[in-house]
Amino acid sequence: MNQQNFNWGGGGNPITKNYGVKFRLNLLKNDIFFYRYLYSHNPHSVTRKMRDIYFGYSSHKYVAKKSFLSFLTPKRYRQQGLAFYCWQKMKKLSYKSKKIEKIYNSLLKRYIKIRVILGKVDIPYFELVLTTKCTMRCESCNNLMQYFTPNQQYTCTLEGILQSLNILLSKVDSVGLIRVIGGEPLLFKELPQIIRFLDLQDKIRAFNIVTNGTMMFSNELLESLRNSHKVQVNISDYTRSPNLTLPLRHKQIMNALESYGISYSFAWSDDSSFWFNPGKIYKRNRNKNDIIKNFRACRMPCVSLMSGEGILCNTPNNTMIAPIGALFVCPIASSLSRLRGMDEFEGDFIDIANATRDRILEFYGQDFYKVCDYCHNMWEAKQLIPIAIQTKKILKIAP
Ligand SMILES: C[S@@+](CC[C@H](N)C(=O)[O-])C[C@H]1O[C@@H](n2cnc3c(N)ncnc32)[C@H](O)[C@@H]1O
Ligand code: SF4
Ligand code: SF4
Repeated sequence: MNQQNFNWGGGGNPITKNYGVKFRLNLLKNDIFFYRYLYSHNPHSVTRKMRDIYFGYSSHKYVAKKSFLSFLTPKRYRQQGLAFYCWQKMKKLSYKSKKIEKIYNSLLKRYIKIRVILGKVDIPYFELVLTTKCTMRCESCNNLMQYFTPNQQYTCTLEGILQSLNILLSKVDSVGLIRVIGGEPLLFKELPQIIRFLDLQDKIRAFNIVTNGTMMFSNELLESLRNSHKVQVNISDYTRSPNLTLPLRHKQIMNALESYGISYSFAWSDDSSFWFNPGKIYKRNRNKNDIIKNFRACRMPCVSLMSGEGILCNTPNNTMIAPIGALFVCPIASSLSRLRGMDEFEGDFIDIANATRDRILEFYGQDFYKVCDYCHNMWEAKQLIPIAIQTKKILKIAP
C-alpha cells in the first residue's frame, strides 16, 4: 500500500467538513489510519479463542441464501453458508501456516477497506473505563490512577454507561474487542449487568475483563461470565510488586473460574518481567509539530470510552461538552479529561452524541491530539521499571 504521511491536525471538531467517499478513499492512504484501524483488525491483536470473522453481522444468527453448492457445506455451517465455512477453515489453517496466515490477513484487510469505502464502521478495539477507583495504588499506572484525589474519582452509573454504549453501537457496524478496565473493574457493583449487556450485542465480537487479582469474584459475576460465549477474564500478575501489602487471590480466582468453565488468562511474570515508565504527566508546551511527533512515536493503539458522568467541563455555566460520553485516544487522555476538564482537549475526542460515522473513521486517522503534550518524549528509549510499585502519595500534574 502506498502510505502517505498526512498531517491530519485536530484542534477543532469536526476536522474535515468534506466527508464522503472521496474522504474515505484518502483515509485509506493515511499511515496512522492504517496502523490504528486497518492493522488493528489483525486477528493476532485478539486472543486465539476470540478470533472471529469481521462481517458486519453476527455469524451466529446469519442465514445465508441457499446456493447450488450448499451440499459442500458441512451440516454445522449450513445456516451461515459455504463462504463462511471456507473462511473459518482458512482461519484455522492460518494458525498453522505462515503463508495461509498472510493470505487470510490480506483478505481481511481488503474486506475492511471495502467496508471503509462504503462508510461502514468496524471499531477494532476500545477500553471501557467503569471506574477510576482501585484496590491498589501503582505509582506508574498507565491509566493515571495515582493522580486522582478522592474528590476526583469517577465511577459511572449503569444507566450512564449503557446509554453511551447504546448510542455508540447505533453509529457503528461492529466492535472487534472491548477491554473492560478501571481502576479495578471488580469494584463496579453492576459488572454482571455490563457482562450480560455486552454479551447480547450482536455488533460486539468479543470482550475481556482485566483484573488485578485482589478481589474475589461473586457468584453472580461468575454466573454472568459462565453464560457469556464471548468473554475472557485476564488476571494481571502483581506477585513481583516490591511493596504490595494486599493479598493476591490468584489461586482462589483461578479455581473459581475453572470450576465454572470460564475462559481466562493469567499474565505470568518472572524476575525478568517489567513495566514501562510512563514518566511524569504535565503540559510541556511543545509546538504542534512536536506534539504530533510525540503521538507518532507513541502510536498507542488503545482507545478509551468514558460515560458522560466521568467528564469534567470547565465551560461557562458548566455546559456539558460530551453529555453522553466520549471516545478518547488512550486511557491517559480519558483520565486527563477527568482531571483537567474536557474544554482543554477539544478536537481530541469523539463526542458520542454528535459523532457521525465519518467522524469516527477520521478519529482513527488523526495525528494531532493536544493531550500528547502531557507525555514525556515518546521517541526516546523506553525506561523499564519494576512491576506495580505502590505509592501512598497522590501525584501532581506538574514537572
Ligand atoms: C491499568 S490496568 C487496569 C486493570 C486492573 N486494575 C489491572 O491492573 O489489571 C490494565 C493493564 O495495564 C497494565 N499496566 C498498567 N500500567 C502499566 C505500565 N506502566 N507498564 C506496563 N503495563 C501497565 C496492567 O498490568 C494491566 O494489565
Ligand atoms: S495498574 Fe495498578 S493502580 Fe492501575 S488500575 Fe491496575 S492495579 Fe490499579
Ligand atoms: S497521550 Fe498521546 S503520547 Fe501519551 S500515551 Fe496517549 S497517545 Fe501516547
